[in-house]
Amino acid sequence: MSRRPLSPRHHGLVELVPWGNEHFDDLVRLASDPRVVEYVGDGKPWSPDHAAERHQKALAHWAEHGFGWCAALERGAFVGLGSMVDHGDGVIEIGWWVDPEHWGRGIATAIATELRDAALARVRRVVAGYVDGNGASERVMVKIGLRYDRSFRAAGRLQHVYALERA
Ligand SMILES: CC(C)(COP(=O)(O)OP(=O)(O)OC[C@H]1O[C@@H](n2cnc3c(N)ncnc32)[C@H](O)[C@@H]1OP(=O)(O)O)[C@@H](O)C(=O)NCCC(=O)NCCS
Repeated sequence: MSRRPLSPRHHGLVELVPWGNEHFDDLVRLASDPRVVEYVGDGKPWSPDHAAERHQKALAHWAEHGFGWCAALERGAFVGLGSMVDHGDGVIEIGWWVDPEHWGRGIATAIATELRDAALARVRRVVAGYVDGNGASERVMVKIGLRYDRSFRAAGRLQHVYALERA
């Protein structure tokens, strides 16, 4: 992950840094917020144990692949997270969560743009998915140039996949 600052729409600079133990408390805070998880998985807040499991997986993914989740920091303060997950076969899935206090400022778009570029520097295809109804996330995918690919059901909900291939 580069340490180049990203520029969200309204003010401030966002920097993506590799995921670490110092970000765990922020993960627990965001993942227990019903607004954040409404369109994630089954829509239920994560328990601290589940957050710990996902945190460990994120650290293991970094160790195995040299990329993965990152924390989005604005003037050093945690404002969200981005994820890059290796799917094998030349495909990386990207995703983003922003602290609700900072929604609507272009932070997800800044994170997603950086992740798209980081993914396509490594593999030929980048994908992202959202649960039906998550209009803000769909909009972010469209804004960074991903196109609709397919839909499927998971955890009882309709999921939509958007994708972009390296030119
Ligand atoms: C989705 C999420 C990351 C967006 O973060 P954000 O920083 O507010 O996003 P941005 O400001 O970069 O862009 C949001 C865009 O969606 C638009 N938008 C917001 N709510 C919308 C809605 N209900 N329907 C359609 N578009 C919507 C905004 O107007 C903006 O588009 P614009 O720049 O053309 O005006 C944030 O809402 C979030 O963290 N949600 C919870 C976690 C989550 O669902 N993550 C995605 C999992 S796939």
